[in-house]
Amino acid sequence: MNIDEIIRNSLLENKFIYGVFTTPRNKGENPYKKIVARPLIMKSGNIIQFEKLTDTKAFHNNLNFEDALREILELIKNEYKNINIFTLDADYQLLISKKGSIKVIEKEPTKELNIENHNKKKQYIINENEPCEFLTLLGVMNQKGQVYAKKYDKFKQINKFLEIVDDSLKDIKINDDFMIIDFGCGKAYLTFALYYYFNEIKKVNVKIIGLDLKDDVINFCNETAEMLKFNNLKFQYGDIKNFNYKSKIDMIVTLHACDNATDAALVKAIKWNTDIILSVPCCQHEFYDKIDNKSLEPMLKHGLIRERISSLVTDSLRGLFLETKGYKVQLLEFISLEHTPKNILIRAIKINKDKDKALKQYDEFKKIWNLQDIFIEEYYNSLK
Ligand SMILES: C[S@@+](CC[C@H](N)C(=O)[O-])C[C@H]1O[C@@H](n2cnc3c(N)ncnc32)[C@H](O)[C@@H]1O
Repeated sequence: MNIDEIIRNSLLENKFIYGVFTTPRNKGENPYKKIVARPLIMKSGNIIQFEKLTDTKAFHNNLNFEDALREILELIKNEYKNINIFTLDADYQLLISKKGSIKVIEKEPTKELNIENHNKKKQYIINENEPCEFLTLLGVMNQKGQVYAKKYDKFKQINKFLEIVDDSLKDIKINDDFMIIDFGCGKAYLTFALYYYFNEIKKVNVKIIGLDLKDDVINFCNETAEMLKFNNLKFQYGDIKNFNYKSKIDMIVTLHACDNATDAALVKAIKWNTDIILSVPCCQHEFYDKIDNKSLEPMLKHGLIRERISSLVTDSLRGLFLETKGYKVQLLEFISLEHTPKNILIRAIKINKDKDKALKQYDEFKKIWNLQDIFIEEYYNSLK
């Protein structure tokens, strides 16, 4: 079989896995150092996608099988010197001589066909086109369940948060009196989502209090909770530092609470022996002026880099601090960076693990960054 037949048959019989084209014959005219062709399932039907890579960018071109066949043969015959084609029947390496003659080396197939379905909708915990009253009242979707374009990121954030909650609780028994506090709840999209997740999806009657410094927001949230008949969801005006609760608190959530309000929330949670902490820190300023490391001065002298590093050092230190108090800590990506730079979620689960290693690491870490008089420590020590 010649190469035309090999490509044509593999496309017609759905045996084409992918093709890689490298080393352009005419570098001056061809901006793409590499092209990868692979089948994809799209809404419009099955296509071959050509991913064309320059030094810095990737461009995509989708073609039907007939046009793809023409394009692939053009790439082989006129454009590239190194070509590998993978099909279900065989792997083919194409050697192109200077004069353009093609030698085909056939080997046993090594790849499996796994066509990406770009038509498949992601399954969320709360789905689009399924009306959800609290999301309608909060202006995220209309009554038919269609998500408003400008609220789509919020919709995805809510679902990502619920996925993390779901994963965090998979080994934990949740009883009806499970108590959650959401510190710095704001307009409370995520607090309502949390309540909906437990009470409507999991069918456990948890209690949630959302706390915030803005009384207009608190009034709005309480009115909304009443309208929804979310009877065990209450909102309170107040500062995290002054908040106290008489009974056990099982879970603390604090999402984008400003600056060291996050630290105050973490300290409260530790003091109360809270089992689960989910925290997405927000802006933080404390370490910007405090971190100091002579070897890293070439980085730290740039304000932008100092800001990013100080934020990462803060979250690492928060994680270590929780470990010194017996928590198992993971830092997870909350939502992709393209939506918000504040995308690290600290998940801490109380397991009373051995604290010695964490204490040592914590002290060493502080020394590396020459950190003293840290708010989280001082606030912790100031509370009984
Ligand atoms: C950026 S909003 C985040 C709202 C919500 N958690 C979210 O993620 O969509 C931060 C909220 O934290 C509240 N906040 C900041 N410091 C606080 C404190 N010390 N006590 C209570 N609430 C606080 C602010 O009033 C604000 O509503």
